[in-house]
Amino acid sequence: MPNLSLKPIKRTPVLTKLNILLLSLLGLVSGTNNSNCTTVEVSITQRIDGEGFHRSIDWLIEATTPSTIDWLASKCQLVLRVEVPLGMFVNPDQLIEIKSLKWLLDGVVDVEAPAHESQSHLVYIYLDSSQFERATVALPVHMRYQRAQITGGYGKVPFSKPSLLIWCPKGLESICGRGLKVEAPCNHLSLDNICIWRNFTYEAHFDDVDLFVPVGDLDHYPLVSIVTLLLGCAGCIYVLSILSTTPL
Ligand SMILES: *[C@@H]1O[C@H](CO)[C@@H](O)[C@H](O)[C@H]1NC(C)=O
Repeated sequence: MPNLSLKPIKRTPVLTKLNILLLSLLGLVSGTNNSNCTTVEVSITQRIDGEGFHRSIDWLIEATTPSTIDWLASKCQLVLRVEVPLGMFVNPDQLIEIKSLKWLLDGVVDVEAPAHESQSHLVYIYLDSSQFERATVALPVHMRYQRAQITGGYGKVPFSKPSLLIWCPKGLESICGRGLKVEAPCNHLSLDNICIWRNFTYEAHFDDVDLFVPVGDLDHYPLVSIVTLLLGCAGCIYVLSILSTTPL
């Protein structure tokens, strides 16, 4: 009777499925039974203004819950963590001029270096809790010169979405939901004080983008050199001819 021997084998998957269901139900309950947690909902819109080498990355950060008053009472903080890729840089001297921005730079910025000789850096922008429901941030960035290519054209600089980190004095569990823990400076004053923040999942009304910068064309190089040289010679001859015909 082969049928009988088959039955118990068929039953096991059903049992394990039930077990998994039960376990995940338990998991769900334990995950959400922290009734003291605050629900936070934030959405971000990103726009990149300008063409060529000087741009502004603008973010509109909007929160639907909690209210600004409740957020201020919670003393929680939000920071935007922006990864500035190799092909781009922020100019610290320029950021100092923007009084409304609380920022901290992690990394060394060489404003002269071309893309292939530079390092990426991080910019932390600490958001003002009194503008929790609606805040705008504008970060001026500059594109680096790219190594000239045989074909010229455009160089591509990928720019990823910023991370939004959240920190609360009552502990990260006081905010509902999950998210990986990330180390980041506690405030904009120093890189030395590190806090554990939570990588908060916000609703992004935008995608990762590629920015394009014009690239020098190696094909043009000999032509440009010859024309420059010829113009230089012509200038010399002209000046000399004037000097030699002017009576002293
Ligand atoms: C935060 O999470 C997002 C989405 O999962 C991820 O792309 C990003 O790299 C994370 N940020 C950090 C600093 O871990």
